[in-house]
Amino acid sequence: MRSPKDFFGPLAVGAPAPVREVPALPSRMIHFFDPSNEKMAAKVPGMVGTVDVLLGNLEDAVRADRKEAARQGLVDIARATDFGDSTQLWTRINSLDSPWVLDDLVTLVTEIGDRLDVIMVPKVQGPEDIHYVDRILAQLEARAGLKRPILVHAILETARGVANVEEIAGASPRMQGISLGPADLAADRRMKTTRVGGGHPGYLVRQDPAKDLGEGVDPVAAERATYQQDLWHYTIARMVDACAMHGIFPYYGPFGDIKDVVACEDQFRNAFLLGCVGTWTLHPVQIDIAKRVFSPSAEDVAHARRVKEAMGDGTGAVMLDGRMEDDASLKQCLVILELAERLGA
Ligand code: GLV
Ligand code: MG
Repeated sequence: MRSPKDFFGPLAVGAPAPVREVPALPSRMIHFFDPSNEKMAAKVPGMVGTVDVLLGNLEDAVRADRKEAARQGLVDIARATDFGDSTQLWTRINSLDSPWVLDDLVTLVTEIGDRLDVIMVPKVQGPEDIHYVDRILAQLEARAGLKRPILVHAILETARGVANVEEIAGASPRMQGISLGPADLAADRRMKTTRVGGGHPGYLVRQDPAKDLGEGVDPVAAERATYQQDLWHYTIARMVDACAMHGIFPYYGPFGDIKDVVACEDQFRNAFLLGCVGTWTLHPVQIDIAKRVFSPSAEDVAHARRVKEAMGDGTGAVMLDGRMEDDASLKQCLVILELAERLGA
């Protein structure tokens, strides 16, 4: 069995748990574009350096009669564009049960395998799907004489995939990360929503009724507040644990209501606080939101530095601003500091 070391060198020891060093490159926003859409494709070179990841999408949202055009469009863009050091090029191939995926893999690895950082595999059901892609990639890379292995990212968007998430995360040393795919997951679970990610006004809890409602009760005080719940909490938390266990990276997926930038930011922030390192962005307006949310704030970094300093050798407990800090809160602060350093924040 190959170990991550075969691909990535020695495991890096980060804080608080061992974290695989690659990819240490920022991936706060994975910005989707349709390579078959000439207008969109023309904007790609201008986005290099402004987003962490540009992803040429070949799967859903690309019409069946545009699949070949999208694949060829991605080859052309990859060849014509210098992505520099600060923007990675990823792709999302078609699903493994589609008629296009084998040609996606053969064409992309053969033609632009030296430029592709990560291949996102949709609708992953279990580790066998990752093994399949891993073996084909190994053959194609050997044939193309590639020196650097292409990494693999799974989308968690079937009930079976969620049930197998730990095995998927550990299925190959190529595994880079996992994204939540809330739209397909909702359909596969037979949820009764019709949205692409985000919350739902019907998924709420209602405050208890005011006691002894009767004459003289202030109607404002009697109003029963409602609190919308996060439909994706359970899946994101499972995904984050599986990724942390295997030293790979978890991501939120798409937020389809482009106009609702407030709810978008809230959803991204929930994912960030739960442990995700980035998200998909579907429209330029979401790029700045992702950048802001998935970078630690200046206040958090300043606080983390204070705790680190106050904790001296890192053991014991101290009081700071009336709060107890100890070894465990220091470890949380080190996570923030490590991220800030990685992002140059
Ligand atoms: C993404 O692919 C999703 O289905 O949400
Ligand atoms: Mg999907």
